[in-house]
Amino acid sequence: MEKRWWKEAVVYQIYPRSFMDSNGDGIGDIKGITSKLDYLQELGIDVVWLSPVYQSPNDDNGYDISDYRNILDEFGTMADWEEMLSEMHKRNIKLMMDLVVNHTSDEHAWFVESRKSKDNKYRDYYIWRPGKDGKEPNNWESIFSGSAWQYDDLTGEYYLHLFSKKQPDLNWENPGLRQEIYDMMKFWLDKGIDGFRMDVINFISKMEGLPSAPEEPGKKYVSGSRYFMNGPRIHEFLQEMNKEVLSKYDIITVGEMPGVTPEQGILYTGEDRNELQMVFQFEHMGIDGGPGGKWDLIPFDLVKLKRILSKWQVELYGKGWNSLYWNNHDQPRVVSRFGNDKEYRVLSAKMLATCLHMMQGTPYIYQGEEIGMTNVQFTSIEDYKDIETLNMYKEKVHENGESPKKVMESIYAKGRDNARTPVQWNNQENAGFTTGTPWLAVNPNYKEINVEAAIADPNSVFHYYKKLIQLRKENEIIVYGQYELLNEEHPHIFAYLRSYNGEQLLVVTNFSSEEQEFHCSKKLDYTNSQRFIGNYDEIEEVEDIHQFRLRPWEAIVYKLS
Ligand code: NOJ
Repeated sequence: MEKRWWKEAVVYQIYPRSFMDSNGDGIGDIKGITSKLDYLQELGIDVVWLSPVYQSPNDDNGYDISDYRNILDEFGTMADWEEMLSEMHKRNIKLMMDLVVNHTSDEHAWFVESRKSKDNKYRDYYIWRPGKDGKEPNNWESIFSGSAWQYDDLTGEYYLHLFSKKQPDLNWENPGLRQEIYDMMKFWLDKGIDGFRMDVINFISKMEGLPSAPEEPGKKYVSGSRYFMNGPRIHEFLQEMNKEVLSKYDIITVGEMPGVTPEQGILYTGEDRNELQMVFQFEHMGIDGGPGGKWDLIPFDLVKLKRILSKWQVELYGKGWNSLYWNNHDQPRVVSRFGNDKEYRVLSAKMLATCLHMMQGTPYIYQGEEIGMTNVQFTSIEDYKDIETLNMYKEKVHENGESPKKVMESIYAKGRDNARTPVQWNNQENAGFTTGTPWLAVNPNYKEINVEAAIADPNSVFHYYKKLIQLRKENEIIVYGQYELLNEEHPHIFAYLRSYNGEQLLVVTNFSSEEQEFHCSKKLDYTNSQRFIGNYDEIEEVEDIHQFRLRPWEAIVYKLS
């Protein structure tokens, strides 16, 4: 397996709107980020993935871009951005920008032109179709509810938008469009950035003819994902992008890919494939969603989680590369989701971090995860800002008459605003995020959970993350070791081995608030065992590492040699 810097790196994601506000307008900004770089350096991360900071009308908080080459006014200026980049580089922090090229904003100059007439030069940059029998061109549902097509009076045709109607999909079949995108990527790379995170990049090739999906009883629109995820020309497009742009720079790339399987993951990330370095897969994010999708809550099942993560570990080993994540700006907070954010918040946050960071892949930490930030429960739907949440609520409650209480429960569990409440910096007003009124309310638990308190407490989640990052830098086994799942059927213990150059790491974690007995499912071969890291201070002497007791949410790692 080739050794590469981005395999050894730890990435930290910043969602700029919610990170740090420097000018009191209630919205996080670039100068706010620059002011916190010492903090990130202290944590020890290598790369920042910055969610979009480009010009945008903010229908989807920057994932609807109206100008790829300029900075959103609310976030600052290009000069602020350049200063941020140079301050990052001074601290050996690399910058990975968000690349959102499945769609633009409907306010992007290309779309403004495209709408004007059927023969406009930019018409073909987007996906326009005439209606069928007075209805939409097909029955696809938008990921943000309703039809994926919007009718436009001006030319009497519909345009495709897999997300909101203010996010028209780009037509990647058009070679001119592709060149414009590659030029734009070079514009940022030549400014000195170190990589791209690519938004829903496996959606860019749609199946020819855009066929309707099979009907589903009781549904007007249905998911057309099988016709646009991992579509027919996706590898061709990515190889072209690689040849034209990516291969010319030593950078880190990760493709966000809902619906990707490990077999496809290898095609996207294989060393000989010249596409991307890693993908964000979603299988483990889907385990608490039922047949009705993410809002259809079903109980967490550890055995299922183990199977999914292990499958990715084993199948990509030596063939591709994994990303590792529990959180991002679209997901609920992991300590509330798979841990216990009440009496075991600190322990379970550390346990989850251990379980993930000891695996093979490049770990991603989402802002606030490193201090164990939790989900939030606002009383009224009016307090929520996320377009996905608001559209879903409107459809379910106002159009389908579902119970508001039940819908609110699902928002508490899965809503994207859980991740987007401002970072809690201290116990002062608005958690130190802003001197103004925050665009989205601060989680009321900031008095207890905040960065200042976490730094002051040597046993905090923050110091534990710092240690995990440090260990990764000092032990190649964490980066390159081979993975093997143990005790596959145990409903509460997630245990695995990593092996490298005659050494092993035995990772054992308890996903429950009860004590558990670990009986290792495999006879381990070693002469020395040493405690590597664990989340309890009081260390219990273990006679035989094949068999020991785990306390609630305990994580323990032994190094065997
Ligand atoms: C995935 C992004 O992570 C999400 O925040 C966004 O809403 C959609 N893609 C559309 O860009």
